Amino acid sequence: MKETVVHVKNLKKIYHTRVSRGLFSTEKREVEAVKEISFDIYGEEVVGFIGPNGAGKTTTLKCLSGLLVPTSGEVEVLGFKPEKRKKEFLQKIALVMGQKSQLWWELAPIETFKLNKEIYGIPDKEYNEVVNEMVEILDIQEVILKPTRNLSLGERMRCEIVAALLHTPELVFLDEPTIGLDVVSQHNLREFVKVYNQRYKAT
Ligand SMILES: Nc1ncnc2c1ncn2[C@@H]1O[C@H](COP(=O)(O)OP(=O)(O)OP(=O)(O)O)[C@@H](O)[C@H]1O
Ligand SMILES: [Mg+2]
Repeated sequence: MKETVVHVKNLKKIYHTRVSRGLFSTEKREVEAVKEISFDIYGEEVVGFIGPNGAGKTTTLKCLSGLLVPTSGEVEVLGFKPEKRKKEFLQKIALVMGQKSQLWWELAPIETFKLNKEIYGIPDKEYNEVVNEMVEILDIQEVILKPTRNLSLGERMRCEIVAALLHTPELVFLDEPTIGLDVVSQHNLREFVKVYNQRYKAT
């Protein structure tokens, strides 16, 4: 069996928020978003995470990528504690959120790619290889040259994926990457995930 990449035991996340109680007053509230879940994911697995709206999927992924600190329980990802957000850890993962854009709105996607190249310190040769390969598979040669604000949802999503995977992370979290895409685009994106998984031995 392959090594454990994600280990989660009794993960619980409670949000502390305030809810409205009329016009001028609010009341403290605790929301138990994730209720003691446990699972393990092994190297090179492709795993789907399903549940109804509000089940806690996004919250769990945020805990796994270190954006949120768990209330209790054990979380170990690639041997790291995600909440510490160590540089070595962040270099190895990616979190793609279909609801959020990381591309610069006024610039062409290729400009965001170049920015990410600098942020992650990707060498020229590797950058050129990866971009060329992904752009070809996703068929976005022309798309990456237009301002992001002019792209269709499906075009933008394909560019988002490239921007997020340029540093070739070994572990990728995708939160609703196919939201709003037509069936053909959804299919293509799933195929791309498969190709990436095999090409880079990623989980
Ligand atoms: N920042 C927050 N503060 C308070 N409550 C939150 C916060 N974020 C999420 N929640 C609540 O936590 C619960 C789980 O939310 P989460 O976004 O993790 O669900 P989800 O499974 O991703 O749902 P969806 O399928 O709609 O994306 C929901 O009840 C939500 O209202
Ligand atoms: Mg969600």
